[in-house]
Amino acid sequence: MDSILVKGNGALNGVIPIAGAKNACLALMPATLLSEEPLTLTNAPRLSDIRTMTQLLQSLGVEVSALQDGKVITMSSHGTLDPRADYDIVRKMRASNLVLGPLLARLGHAVVSLPGGCAIGARPMDIHIDALTALGAEIELKDGYLHAKTQGGLKGAVHEMRFASVGATENFVMAATLAKGTSVLKNAAREPEIVDLVRCLRRMGAEIEGEGTPTITIEGVTALRGATHPVVTDRIELGTYMLVPAIAGGEVECLGGRIELVGAFCEKLDAAGISVSETERGIKVSRQNGRVKAVDVVTEPFPGFPTDLQAQMMALLCTAEGTSVLEEKIFENRFMHAPELMRMGARIEVHGGHATVTGVERLRGAPVMATDLRASVSLILAALAAEGETVVSRVYHLDRGYERVEEKLSACGAKIERIRAAG
Ligand code: UD1
Repeated sequence: MDSILVKGNGALNGVIPIAGAKNACLALMPATLLSEEPLTLTNAPRLSDIRTMTQLLQSLGVEVSALQDGKVITMSSHGTLDPRADYDIVRKMRASNLVLGPLLARLGHAVVSLPGGCAIGARPMDIHIDALTALGAEIELKDGYLHAKTQGGLKGAVHEMRFASVGATENFVMAATLAKGTSVLKNAAREPEIVDLVRCLRRMGAEIEGEGTPTITIEGVTALRGATHPVVTDRIELGTYMLVPAIAGGEVECLGGRIELVGAFCEKLDAAGISVSETERGIKVSRQNGRVKAVDVVTEPFPGFPTDLQAQMMALLCTAEGTSVLEEKIFENRFMHAPELMRMGARIEVHGGHATVTGVERLRGAPVMATDLRASVSLILAALAAEGETVVSRVYHLDRGYERVEEKLSACGAKIERIRAAG
């Protein structure tokens, strides 16, 4: 397994291009199952999670071709489709469950493995099941697989989710595009990735209103057509790289960034004393002198502070002046980066869903281990500001969600290199 070596060496300055959003792309790709005509995504990120979704779609009978080194993905679901998403692929990535809604809508039946355990909590499927059941699906759990079918196709319905789940919103909206009649989803998730999915579905001929609000209305149509759609900017990659100058000092411009994607996060940076401004090309962040100030953070569904930036924000607060409290409200067990940051000299106490971070003047390099995707990048951020060398092992987690991280950070002056595992 590869590891990454980082030597903390002071302020970092430069320009970082932000890729298309992994989580948007993972929802947009299954949308191809809804139409016989090809769907082309531009600005796709080049990540191992996208390759996993490609394999899953191919296993279902979708033709997938990638151009421009993977930045453009064309998918065609015109042939016979296999309704079964196998455990071997689904277990690698929870977002595989996003084929359930589209398969049901197009074929009237689907067999999708449950995703299984996950490092950041139980992550059950009940909200997805309730949402699709409301549209008339009959879903049974047998041998670790969800067996879903419809009697005469999906039918529009009004449904309120018990929690604004991102994935369940995506599954419901995709399924409802081909249902008979009108569907209304209440307490829908409002994340920018959902807005992006709806824009793409609309290009494909779907009739949808209310994306980005808690109520989404979908008027079912009989068929969707092909389309070409650019993937929205990755707000989590954006927030992560905005933290580079915040943590190490210096000034970085993140190309393609927009404040509206990271509003709640920017408010916290501002409170910590970091300067953030929108430019014509993106967002510029700088910290010239002095320590950052402690701030309290609570993770919430969009437009609140994103759980996917909590680990990275914790890395920043480890060197803040004062004590910060981070509260994780989306996932249980999402503080696994805390003991690793403590190996670098951070002072953190975790009690259930709260972490109390007392800032220290300087972190020190240490061997640490990546436990999940966002945790791994938080360790790299901490290492940029630490004294000495840090080796982050198990970086396959990182490759799931960050393309060319060494290249992007080296361009700003960071001393970072990948140590390839032998064999
Ligand atoms: C998506 C993102 C993930 C992000 C998360 C929250 C993708 C591919 N992944 O994940 O990066 O961290 O949103 O912003 O877009 N839950 C249930 N039952 C369900 C579904 C979810 O109890 O049927 C719970 C989960 O365990 C979790 C919470 O709801 O505690 C949020 O999950 P959800 O919004 O569904 O996240 P994902 O779509 O899996």
